[in-house]
Amino acid sequence: MDKIIVEGGRLLNGTVRVNGAKNSAVALLPAAILADSTVTIDGLPDISDVNTLTMILEDIGAKIKRDSNQKVHIDPSSIVSIPIPNGKVKKLRASYYFMGAMLGKFKRAAIGLPGGCYLGPRPIDQHIKGFEALGAKVTNEKGAIYLQADELKGARIYLDVVSVGATINIMLAAVLAKGKTTIENAAKEPEIIDVATLLTNMGAKIKGVGTDIIRIEGVEKLHGCTHTIIPDRIEAGTYAILAAAQGDNVVIDNVIPEHLESLLAKLREMGVNIQQRDEQLVITRSPSLKSVDIKTLVYPGFPTDLQQPFTTLLTRAEGTSIVTDTIYTARLKHIDELRRMNAKVKVEGGSAIVTGPSQLQGARVKASDLRAGAALVIAGLMANGITEITGIEHIERGYENITDKLRSLGASIRREQMTETELEKFNSK
Ligand code: EPU
Repeated sequence: MDKIIVEGGRLLNGTVRVNGAKNSAVALLPAAILADSTVTIDGLPDISDVNTLTMILEDIGAKIKRDSNQKVHIDPSSIVSIPIPNGKVKKLRASYYFMGAMLGKFKRAAIGLPGGCYLGPRPIDQHIKGFEALGAKVTNEKGAIYLQADELKGARIYLDVVSVGATINIMLAAVLAKGKTTIENAAKEPEIIDVATLLTNMGAKIKGVGTDIIRIEGVEKLHGCTHTIIPDRIEAGTYAILAAAQGDNVVIDNVIPEHLESLLAKLREMGVNIQQRDEQLVITRSPSLKSVDIKTLVYPGFPTDLQQPFTTLLTRAEGTSIVTDTIYTARLKHIDELRRMNAKVKVEGGSAIVTGPSQLQGARVKASDLRAGAALVIAGLMANGITEITGIEHIERGYENITDKLRSLGASIRREQMTETELEKFNSK
């Protein structure tokens, strides 16, 4: 197991290129099984979540051909409806998209409960509600979900909670169902539009994606196609935040700035200099930053996935900032680690209250989840001295080559193997 070592304090300069969106990729791969011929997906990020899903596809019989790490051809013609192995399913949240995709294709599925980052309770009741409305019988036995339907029939489904996962999963099951499905109170994230674009190119009939009512007319079958993934707005946002924190002149390339409006508005409110081009953001050093409050909301509100990195940036701002995560109220595990690094942050009534500016100091810290890991990398870049980050397997689930990308911007950052003693300590925590 490796750790990341950052020597902080250097100003960053240069261009960093954003990869394809993780949260699209992890839905597009399971979606590909709905076709009856080869689906080519281009722009895949080289991250462990994508590798795990590709292995699951192979486990169920898909033939995978790679032109490169970014471009894969998925031939789903020999996929069989078998229970999906538990070990890999537990590695990530998005394995639950095999529920919708397998149910759509075979009218049955058996799959372990998904894993992923611990951000507090993450129920899947809205996914199940949708599958049941389409005619599936859903049972939960010994930690696995079994779905079975004689046939799937379109239905009107109102989501009680706006959910990215439930919206996509129901779409996956409904595109091959008989008749019309309406998803009301649907989520509107760009990744949902990306998945609907793939399904439409495969022959599905979907209208209204990007609004809160999605209408689907079931078709008999879907065919192969080629699809290029949208850029990752969360990776782009992470680099924008770290450029605001420690950049001198940083260009973030392959961005759709419109996907990041809520973040850019908050950065500007803090006094960050941002120039917006067609597919790039240019962020230059601001001598001082002002405190701001943020509240995470469903898209197009401030993304929960950027809350943790943004909290780190707020330690540089003058004054008191209040951070409230309304999507995952317990997504605050980075706070204790930031405190170890001399940040003045306390949690009160479910919000993090950051008082700044404070000069962060290098320390030994542990990434508890993916975006907490990103928050700690940014903190390490801002800190005086050396920061050692363990738990980096979380970071690798979502950020391609983060150490190389940061080194190309002039950061002093490297991976190193953990010693035996460190490993023992790490495993005992
Ligand atoms: N929720 C329910 N019932 C459900 C589904 C969700 O109560 O059946 C609640 C959740 O507990 C949460 C809220 O609804 O409070 C929103 O959850 P959502 O279903 O939208 O989240 P998700 O689909 O499980 C995706 C991303 C997350 C991101 C959230 C919110 C993927 C694979 N994951 O999760 O990404 O935080 O949407 O935008 O797309 C990450 O990339 O670090 C990450 C965690």
